[in-house]
Amino acid sequence: MDRQTLSALAHAEHPIAAPLGDPTVSDLLNRAIRRPDAHLLDLGCGEGAWLLRAAQEHDGVTAVGVDISGAGFEETLADAARLGVADRLELLRQDVTTYRSARKADVVLSIGAAYAFGELLPALAAARGHLAEDGVVVLGDCFWEREPSPELRAELEDGPQKYADLATTVARVVADGWTPVHGHVSTLAEWDEYEWSWTGSLAAWALDHPDHPDREQVLATSAAHRDSWLNGYRGVLGFVTLVLRPTP
Ligand SMILES: C[S@@+](CC[C@H](N)C(=O)[O-])C[C@H]1O[C@@H](n2cnc3c(N)ncnc32)[C@H](O)[C@@H]1O
Repeated sequence: MDRQTLSALAHAEHPIAAPLGDPTVSDLLNRAIRRPDAHLLDLGCGEGAWLLRAAQEHDGVTAVGVDISGAGFEETLADAARLGVADRLELLRQDVTTYRSARKADVVLSIGAAYAFGELLPALAAARGHLAEDGVVVLGDCFWEREPSPELRAELEDGPQKYADLATTVARVVADGWTPVHGHVSTLAEWDEYEWSWTGSLAAWALDHPDHPDREQVLATSAAHRDSWLNGYRGVLGFVTLVLRPTP
């Protein structure tokens, strides 16, 4: 089974691909959307769950989501049609680093997708390029809640993106010319819900498909992820979502 299909299965019960509960997502959107006709852009939108929620809960907003994968787009657009908001939601399968639009966004989201740009500051630079005057950025990314073991650090920092502690992460954002007007640090309960949902959805699918050729692979993926979480990053890796406005 390819990674996209695995990821779609893993997120079946938690369409937001980050450790954030539903009330948190709504609260962050409420804080970021400052005008009824706001235009939203989500860079690395996953299946588009944030934008579907925004369109559902904010009558006049329009939204464009960009993701290189496109997994889940069809289902999200079908949900949007069912909810009567399809005319306000567009999902584009494209690389965010090459995405260009003449239309500036009042809210630019990038949740758990900074790695697409290399790391945090290039992601913010891209967001700034798409942002309307007086716009708001909602940026979600990992940080080290506690000092990781060298093995864990090596495992989770295997790409260009390196994490820092919360204070250092926020200080880097502020030094880059942003003022946090709100922030949410994911609780352990939000992490646990996300990780149980991720590993549990895969495990349940495998048990429900005993004759499927990919059953063993799916079970193994679930078990490996659960092990890496429970014996590794649980309580050590944090996730912060910042609501940011450009510092004048
Ligand atoms: C952890 S998921 C977060 C998805 C979404 N923001 C959410 O909170 O539900 C990261 C997403 O970034 C996307 N991504 C990674 N690199 C990308 C790129 N170069 N261009 C567009 N999307 C990218 C992945 O396909 C994935 O859907």
